[in-house]
Amino acid sequence: VAEGWLVARQGAGTTVAAAAVANEPARRAAPDADRVLFDLRPGVPDVAAFPRARWLAAARRALADAPASSLAYGDGQGRPELRHALARYLTRARGVRAGADAIVICTGVAQGLALLCEVLARRGAATLAVEGFGIQAHRELAASAGLGSRALPVDDDGAVVGELTREDAVLLTPAHQFPLGMPLAPGRRLEAAAWARREDTVIVEDDYDGEFRYDRQPVGAMQALAPEHVVYAGTASKTLAPGLRLGWLVLPEGLVAEVTEAKLRADGGSGAPDQLTLAELITSGGYDRQVRRARLAYRRRRDTLVAALRRRVPGVEVSGIAAGLHAVVRLPAGLTEDDAVARAAELGVAVQELGRYAGEGATHAPALVVGYATPPGHAFGEAVSRLCLALGARAS
Ligand SMILES: Cc1ncc(COP(=O)(O)O)c(C=O)c1O
Repeated sequence: VAEGWLVARQGAGTTVAAAAVANEPARRAAPDADRVLFDLRPGVPDVAAFPRARWLAAARRALADAPASSLAYGDGQGRPELRHALARYLTRARGVRAGADAIVICTGVAQGLALLCEVLARRGAATLAVEGFGIQAHRELAASAGLGSRALPVDDDGAVVGELTREDAVLLTPAHQFPLGMPLAPGRRLEAAAWARREDTVIVEDDYDGEFRYDRQPVGAMQALAPEHVVYAGTASKTLAPGLRLGWLVLPEGLVAEVTEAKLRADGGSGAPDQLTLAELITSGGYDRQVRRARLAYRRRRDTLVAALRRRVPGVEVSGIAAGLHAVVRLPAGLTEDDAVARAAELGVAVQELGRYAGEGATHAPALVVGYATPPGHAFGEAVSRLCLALGARAS
């Protein structure tokens, strides 16, 4: 009333002042975030399924047993309990040749990559080769460290590593190309390892979702092919939650000290309580159980998504589905990526266009990258149904 928006008269109701109505600005479209009812963008696991009770129990056990010194400043490399637990786990589950001494704990693959690029640049590196499709932010991390990037084409066998020449390092997603979804073919792995040995360079193996493989035997890490030239980068971002910011690098011996120093400079080392908790979760078998449970749930979601798209949307092609938490959905003829994203948004569904991940010069047929981990279980069917409608399915 004091500001003139309302008129209050004694004995009558309070009403909106005429001037207030006349001056009301034209209604703007609601911001995107408000309209997202179903999030089918890739990159995030089902955080609602985070094993809170197991995590809390592990935290209680870990802190009860931890020496007081574990809560003092660390050495930057990470808690030995976690490095030992990871060394055993990665050897068993991913075929990595890892000793605890070779591991540096970091806040996700993102930081691991940043630290590594910094160290390589300090040593005089100038160029990082990357896959022609990938995460823009990773290329930007390299650029921040002063490294130029050069994109390798990607075909059905993964990155065309035969095109590597004089780059100082290459960033690959060998188990499950992000976002296209194929594994790096065995011949290409050997070729890349041979290049790294010949040129005395570094392969960065981003194993972001290696645990989630559905149709075939797990594709092991390529680090074992050339442990002295491959930096293996892993993360808890898909198996547990990205909000933990817990990741790890398994490094060739000659890089450990410099990367540890870079980590100390960056943030003084990752927090001890979460490292101790993850170590306890891994050692007690809780981590394996979580991965098994999540793998089953994601596999069901993937089957639901693929079956619905194939049944309801004529002309759609789904690929990259043998692993991971996302699928590449090639659009029916005549539908552009922008149209598909806009039509999905009208139905409250957020999806990502493949073009967002294409590096300079990379061409592709119009497609979406659909993440199937995020909508909570009860909403997943509806999310898929709306996606089908957006892509041209008839309402059923
Ligand atoms: C290709 C790729 N690498 C790495 C990650 C994980 O990054 P971080 O460990 O920094 O959360 C993701 C997560 O979406 C990813 O898609």
